Amino acid sequence: MADRYLRLTGTAPGRFVARRLGLPQPAALRRWSPRTPDLPGPVLRLAAGDTPPSGSGPYGAVVLDATAVADPAGLRGVHGALHPLARSLAPCGRIVVLGARPQDGDLGHAAAQQALEGFVRSLGKEIGRGCTVQLLRLAPGAAADSTLDFLLSPRSAYVSGQVIEIGPAPQPPAAEGRTALVTGAARGIGAAVAETLARGGAHVVCLDVPQAGDALAEVAARVTGTALALDITAPDAGGRIAAALPGGLDVLVHNAGITRDRRLANMPADRWETVIDVNLGSVLRTTAHLLAAGTLNEHARIVGTASIAGIAGNTGQTNYAASKAGIIGCVRALAADPAVRGRGITANAVAPGFIETAMTAAVPLVIREAGRRMNSLGQGGLPVDVAETVAWLSDAASGGVNGQVVRVCGQSLLGA
Ligand code: NAI
Repeated sequence: MADRYLRLTGTAPGRFVARRLGLPQPAALRRWSPRTPDLPGPVLRLAAGDTPPSGSGPYGAVVLDATAVADPAGLRGVHGALHPLARSLAPCGRIVVLGARPQDGDLGHAAAQQALEGFVRSLGKEIGRGCTVQLLRLAPGAAADSTLDFLLSPRSAYVSGQVIEIGPAPQPPAAEGRTALVTGAARGIGAAVAETLARGGAHVVCLDVPQAGDALAEVAARVTGTALALDITAPDAGGRIAAALPGGLDVLVHNAGITRDRRLANMPADRWETVIDVNLGSVLRTTAHLLAAGTLNEHARIVGTASIAGIAGNTGQTNYAASKAGIIGCVRALAADPAVRGRGITANAVAPGFIETAMTAAVPLVIREAGRRMNSLGQGGLPVDVAETVAWLSDAASGGVNGQVVRVCGQSLLGA
């Protein structure tokens, strides 16, 4: 499962050989740890049209306010501000461009604000050295603090080239004493999500199939949480979850998922049915039950787990990609539902790319190697990268982020 190439190019001789042969040289990403809680330098904030301070840096991040760019000529100010800074960013630094929603009926504004998307995605592909680039589209009164905290930190190490819309939000509720449920928590991404939410102070109920037994109990003990051995596709799953959560639920993370790959021509109905039911059907049923039963508290956060396969499609994965695209439809519909919105509940999805887990360790070697390298950061992500993103979307202060699909894929070429 280990990425031997990344390890090799992390050594001086390995780097030398890779450079001589013109092979990719992925950077060692700076991830959050108690020893590296911050970016590797200060944050510079400026607006399009400003002249950046000369000879300064290296910066840990640059935040460029481009919300006032209202026509193509205004894009000159984006180039003018960032061109001199492109080389002043520290390794694993961040560029965050703040934009506005393109205005219908104002051709210049719509074109210029949409242009920022192409700009950000291109810069993400060329900047290198483990740096990331994102566009935040701010609605009037947008509550962007928790999103900026996330993006301007090592917690967003494997998120790049994303366009995220932020709206206004009601006053965030108290962040203490929250209860979270994570499905598929016995291993992989789910276990990392449980650990990361527990690190943020939540009591985590860890759900997995009864066969996961010891592994599930171990994760629950490690996060000082509770184990709930339950097949999420069981007809009474919603009721059993509600019964296990008498104090209600503040964070619901639908993470459990399976693959049963075959080309459509070779795919029997049972492979189709199982994947759709575990990955999508159960998500709809449990969410509906927990909403109707009042188990989801006011300002609860629902996070679905999609996949870049659900955005780009993938050979041999018509069932899986359909289920993951369905998750995107599900969170968008929930986010738009006045009954859900009215209670301050948000619904978003993460769409992981290639993440180093048991699921991807089972992928044939050549496809696995391609999955690792075909992204702007030149490496696979770790379960914690998805977990940090889930934790940001689950934050009590993230009420302005709703109906968003955030890829955790190092800016994969697939579906970009
Ligand atoms: P994994 O296979 O390592 O873990 C999945 C967990 O879900 C397992 O513990 C399993 O027992 C549990 N689970 C499966 N069916 C269940 C059911 N019916 N009821 C309760 N629990 C059940 O998978 P991994 O890699 O950690 O993936 C987690 C999620 O992320 C999945 O939804 C997967 O589709 C998604 N994903 C993963 C990617 C990757 O590169 N690893 C890429 C894109 C999406």
